[in-house]
Amino acid sequence: MLPSRQKHTPSCQSISYINTSPLTVLSASKSYIHSYTPSTVTVYLDTRNNVSSAGHGNPAIADAVHQQMLLQNSNSRYLHSSFNELKEQIAARLGGADDDGRGPWKIILTNAGSESNDVALRIARAHLQHKRSCKTFTTYTYSMSYHGHSTSCLSVSPYKLRKLGHHDSSLYCPPDTQVVWLPTPCPSSTPSPSTAFDAAYTPSPSTLMFECGMSVAGVVLPPASYLSSAVSKIRSDGGLAIYDEVQSCCYRTGEFTCFQTMGYPSPDIVTLGKPLGNGFPLSACCVRADVLESFENEGLEYFNTFGGNAAACAAGLATLSELDRLRPVSDTTGALLLGLLRDLHNKHPRMICDVRGRGMFLGVEFLNVRAPSDPSPEGTLELSFVASRLKDFHHVLTTIDGAKDSVMVIKPPLCFSPQDAAYFADCLDKAITECLRDVDENGAMGVLGCGATST
Ligand SMILES: Cc1ncc(COP(=O)(O)O)c(C=O)c1O
Repeated sequence: MLPSRQKHTPSCQSISYINTSPLTVLSASKSYIHSYTPSTVTVYLDTRNNVSSAGHGNPAIADAVHQQMLLQNSNSRYLHSSFNELKEQIAARLGGADDDGRGPWKIILTNAGSESNDVALRIARAHLQHKRSCKTFTTYTYSMSYHGHSTSCLSVSPYKLRKLGHHDSSLYCPPDTQVVWLPTPCPSSTPSPSTAFDAAYTPSPSTLMFECGMSVAGVVLPPASYLSSAVSKIRSDGGLAIYDEVQSCCYRTGEFTCFQTMGYPSPDIVTLGKPLGNGFPLSACCVRADVLESFENEGLEYFNTFGGNAAACAAGLATLSELDRLRPVSDTTGALLLGLLRDLHNKHPRMICDVRGRGMFLGVEFLNVRAPSDPSPEGTLELSFVASRLKDFHHVLTTIDGAKDSVMVIKPPLCFSPQDAAYFADCLDKAITECLRDVDENGAMGVLGCGATST
C-alpha cells in the first residue's frame, strides 16, 4: 500500500506512524478505527479524531447524505430548505446576535476551514478598507497558531511556518502580519501574555485572528481576561476580531464554541469546520451583518461550487442533531478523563508536568526524564516512546503536538464512553511505567522507537 501511495503523492503529505508502521484503515466505528493487513484486523481506540466528532461510521449522518445524494446535489444557487435550516441552526447556537443591533449572523458555507478563514480575512480587509479607510491592514496572529493551508491562511499561521527551517518565512508571512507571542501554560514561570499583546500592538484599525482552543500549540486555552483585553483594544481602535473555531467548535470544550465555554467576548467573525459535517467537507464563515456590508458592496460574487450543496447541508444538519444528543459527553466523560489524567500526573511527576484542557479537548505535557531541568525539550523522546507503545502494544491512537512536540493532545469523538476513558487512562499509565522502566534500565533510551504522530 505504501509504495503505491508514494508513487503519485507529494512527500510533503505526511503519513501517521510512518516511523513505526502506518495503518491501513478500511473501516471504523464509533470511537474505534480498524486497521487491516492481508491476514489481520486490529481495532484501535481513537483519541485523536475530532473530525468524526459524532463517531466513525455514524449511520444517521451517512444515511442523511446518502438520501440527499439520491435526490439532488447541485449547487447553492438553487433554493433549498436545508441550506436555510442549517444556517438557522448554526446562528441559534452561536447566540447573542438578535438583540444587540448588529443584525443576524450571515453565514457563508464552504468546504474547508482554510476556505472559511480565507474569506474571513477578505471580509475583514473589505471592512477596514471601506468603513475605516485603511490603506494598510495589520493582522495580529499568535505564535503557534494554525489557520489553514491557503496562501492567506499560511500568512497568519506561525505554527506551520516554523517548519520552514532555513527557508525565508517572510515569503509566506508578509510584513502586515504581526505575531503575538503566547506561551503554553507549562513551564509556568513565563511572563504575562497580556504584556506580549501590548508589546506587539500598534493602535490602528486592524484584525485580530485568534484560534480558540489552540490545538497544534498543545491545548492552549488563554483565560477570558487575556482575550477580553486584546479584543477591547482592537475594537476601540475600529478593528475586528476573527475567531477560528475550526478545531474547537461543536461542543468539543463543552459549549457549542470554545469562545462560549471560555467566556471570551463574542467575535465579529467566527469560522467553524472540521466536526461540522462529521467528515463530510463542510465549514462555515459566520459574520455579523454590519461587518459584512463592505464585502457585499464590493460587487464580487461569492460562488463556491461545492460549498453548502444539499448533501453538505444534510451532513451538517444530521451532525448537529447527533451532537446535540452527544453533547453531555463533553462535560461528563471529559471531566472523568481529566480526573484520571490528573491522577496520572500525581502518580508520574517525573514524566508529566501538566494536564490541562476542557471537555473533550485535553492535553498532557511530558517532561524530559533524562534531563529534568529542561522541561520540554525539542521532540520529547519519552512522549514519542509512550505514543508508540500505546499504538503498538495497547492499540490506542494519540496525537503529539505543541511547540516542542511535548504534548499529548486528546480530542476523541464525542461518543467516547466512560469505559473508553478508563481504558485509555489505564493504557497510558502502563505505557508511562514501561517508558520509565526503560529509562531507568537503559539510561540513554537509545533503543526506543520514535512514534511521533503529529496531526
Ligand atoms: C484551527 C484550524 N484552523 C483552520 C484549519 C484548516 O482547516 P482545513 O484543513 O479544513 O482547511 C485547521 C486544520 O487543521 C485548524 O486546526
